[in-house]
Amino acid sequence: MATTITVTGAGGQIGYALLFRIAAGDMLGPDEKVRLRLLEIPQGVKAAEGAALELEDGAFELLESVDVTDDAEVGFDGCNLALLVGARPRGPGMERGDLLAANAGIFGPQGAAIAARAASDVRVTVVGNPANTNALIASASADGVPADRFSALTRLDENRARAQLAATLETPVAAVRRVTIWGNHSATQFPDVSHATVYGRPVLDALAERVEDVQDWLEGTFIPRVAKRGAEIIEVRGSSSVASAANAAIEHTRDWVRGSTEWTSAAVVSHGEYGVPQGLMSSFPVRAVDGRWEIVEGLAVDDWARARIEASVAELIEERDAVRELGVLR
Ligand code: NAD
Ligand code: LMR
Repeated sequence: MATTITVTGAGGQIGYALLFRIAAGDMLGPDEKVRLRLLEIPQGVKAAEGAALELEDGAFELLESVDVTDDAEVGFDGCNLALLVGARPRGPGMERGDLLAANAGIFGPQGAAIAARAASDVRVTVVGNPANTNALIASASADGVPADRFSALTRLDENRARAQLAATLETPVAAVRRVTIWGNHSATQFPDVSHATVYGRPVLDALAERVEDVQDWLEGTFIPRVAKRGAEIIEVRGSSSVASAANAAIEHTRDWVRGSTEWTSAAVVSHGEYGVPQGLMSSFPVRAVDGRWEIVEGLAVDDWARARIEASVAELIEERDAVRELGVLR
């Protein structure tokens, strides 16, 4: 049996960086055959068809089929995994509310099509921004699909945070573990190192040997660097991150499906953990166990960290309320 994977926005930049790695087995491993469904809007179909031709030329042995469509009902038919990448980018003069409205028009119908046509074990990774709220919209529109089958990407933020710590501590990135991203995939996110370790030792102790004032460094250097990295990439590259985002989407989905022993970060539905209002799609420390994200509970959160988490969650509440006003959420 093969896994059917639908990628939306497949003709775009992240789509192009994702498809070949999925076909090569980077997401589901060397033994799992895959069928790809490339879902685009009509303007993006040619680019997706071009990617499909190249997928054919790659002669990927795990790739059973590639289909391109601009019909969501066809695109999600029987899919086991969906990576929702296609989204409406912020245009000139567009306010946050306009962006949410435009994306509600995409992720609402896609959630409904997933509910109508996807396989009963479907799991949905949302990449397109604003990712947390787009996941909330899709989930709210997917009648009968449990909310825990939707999650949004904050793995890129986590990877950025681990890389920054590794550079500062002059250590391999693999040694840095248990960095948590809380809240929204936006500049309000809270990259939290209070439980992070380097070679099993608290990162905070290791940092104390490297920087003059750890708290100053966290607030003045580390957190803004990580939280604004997306904007930095846009400024330097001229467009938003692509390969690193695709890599994070693959790692996120891989862990979700195949399990993770160490904890990672993902935006998942809250049941009230850590005071985050129920129903919000907020980033938490998570483990993937038996194909489900489990929030790591019981971590100590001091007042400073709590205020940071609350600030990002406040932004998620604002986004949820704006979408609710559009009549998209029940
Ligand atoms: P892109 O503009 O290159 O590609 C987007 C593609 O989506 C286009 O081909 C477009 O035709 C398609 N599309 C638009 N509406 C669609 C719909 N309704 N159905 C199917 N396809 C649709 O953009 P990109 O660089 O690939 O980025 C995609 C999204 O990912 C953006 O929203 C970006 O902000 C976001 N992003 C998220 C993260 C993250 O960590 N969560 C990181 C980087 C980028
Ligand atoms: C990123 O984190 O690189 C992107 O989400 C930034 C953006 O606004 O597209």
